[in-house]
Amino acid sequence: MKKKITVPDILACKGQSKVPTMITCYDYTNAKLVDESDIDMILVGDSMGMTMLGYKGTVGVTVDDIIYHTKHVVAGAPNTFVMGDMPFGSYNVSIEDAVRSANRIFVEGGCDCVKLEGGTDVAPVVKAIVKAGIPVCGHIGLTPQTAAMMGGFKVQGKSFEAAQELLDGARAIAEAGAFMVVLEGIPAMVANAITEKISIPTMGIGAGAGCDMQVLVAKDMLGMNEWVPKFAKKYADLHSVIINAYNEYVKESNERAFPSEPYQYNAKIEGIENLK
Ligand code: KIV
Repeated sequence: MKKKITVPDILACKGQSKVPTMITCYDYTNAKLVDESDIDMILVGDSMGMTMLGYKGTVGVTVDDIIYHTKHVVAGAPNTFVMGDMPFGSYNVSIEDAVRSANRIFVEGGCDCVKLEGGTDVAPVVKAIVKAGIPVCGHIGLTPQTAAMMGGFKVQGKSFEAAQELLDGARAIAEAGAFMVVLEGIPAMVANAITEKISIPTMGIGAGAGCDMQVLVAKDMLGMNEWVPKFAKKYADLHSVIINAYNEYVKESNERAFPSEPYQYNAKIEGIENLK
């Protein structure tokens, strides 16, 4: 059975050859599968807005949604480190409100840490949540919660100034006490520079192979949709596997080939034809 990774283990992975991995997960059944695999961490991400709830983006996901899904993931993955995402609106009103939201996700969800998006601006929020005793992961670069401000889901940090701003943000949240930071949708050379220059481990998604850790959205890497973003490799083609299984079931039902033996119950009842 795999040993559950801890915050000190994650801090110690900086600059090591082993790359801890994380995957998104939102339910008990899939959490059990992740727990049986070699994946170290689960993110109960607000990407559930798109992958589970049919929203256009992550905005609209609530603290209650995150808590509900986190609880069931934690139940299915006792040997896997679980991160609960702080959704849009749960940490941008006031610091007090942010600590209250983080407390709820951590305590009611039962996860091992929380994650929030933003750079220098959110450093005071990170500091307050860490002071409350909750491990915090940062998230910079392409931050889906503020995609509207970026004009959509666009690669960030493509100029010297923009790369410097990302590095400043990463340093600010590290200094505020975050134990790791997600780098999303930025050029690999920028991610490499940030990884080299900050004290805490980086976790990449669309940020190249040089980060200390990697994360992917499960639905992308399992090939549940035909379309996947450029950075997401399909490690399986579950879309075809599932559609083929559904269609085979329809076909066999129509042919009355299913449920035949051994999928039916039998009994010996005299005179069954006389039932009224
Ligand atoms: O919500 C999510 O799935 C995320 C990942 C893209 C890192 O934040």
